[in-house]
Amino acid sequence: MGPARQALRAATQESHDRLDKAAVLQPLVRPDITREQYARALAVLHGFNAPAERALGNDGAARLDLLRDDLRVLGADPDALPEMTETGPNGLPTLDSPPARLAARYVLDGSAHGGRAMLPGITRALGFDGRRGARFLASDGLDMAADWKALMVRLEVELADPADLATACAAAAALFAALERWILEWTPGMDPWIGPGENRPSERGA
Ligand code: HEM
Repeated sequence: MGPARQALRAATQESHDRLDKAAVLQPLVRPDITREQYARALAVLHGFNAPAERALGNDGAARLDLLRDDLRVLGADPDALPEMTETGPNGLPTLDSPPARLAARYVLDGSAHGGRAMLPGITRALGFDGRRGARFLASDGLDMAADWKALMVRLEVELADPADLATACAAAAALFAALERWILEWTPGMDPWIGPGENRPSERGA
């Protein structure tokens, strides 16, 4: 692992560890996850990913489209879901420099690693997979391994200057902190609508 990635990992590790245990995300790794819990976790991630990808000019937002597709399968309208504000004290950090934007890609694309690991459990519990309902976790159709490898090269080249690396680490940590705030802000009243009994995978024989 190169020094730039190592530094980004260290700068975000504590926050990542806390996120793993966040009540709204934790069901993603539980064998008894319910459809409602799954929908809620995706909705929370959408409220973070959508404005973050917009702030980056939608570059590399293919996974966001997968997330929106999964939410529709779950009966939620992604356009109607609450999103984190792009600015302000509770909003996203400013991503106005190349190192900060690169760090944001690291955070957003890195989250796919956890997603792939969660996929088999989601398929077992809910019947969703990379073709339907869990395309975001599966990174369906995307070559995440190749993209990640290319990003790792960029990190080491473009963050070779210690000042740039410091900017990137601060941005990555701030982005994780913003996600933590957003998760705390989320209330049950903001859940996407999930119709009882409608389109349940078990009833479709999926
Ligand atoms: C329940 C929630 C989560 C779990 C269980 C989880 C799990 C994991 C796991 C197992 C890895 C390591 C994969 C590997 O080494 O191949 C990983 C890496 C990563 N995750 Fe998560 N994750 C979660 C949520 C998130 C979220 C919400 C984000 C950011 C939005 C995120 C960002 C990252 C990043 C940036 C890495 C790459 C770290 C590196 O190796 O440099 N994760 N995650």
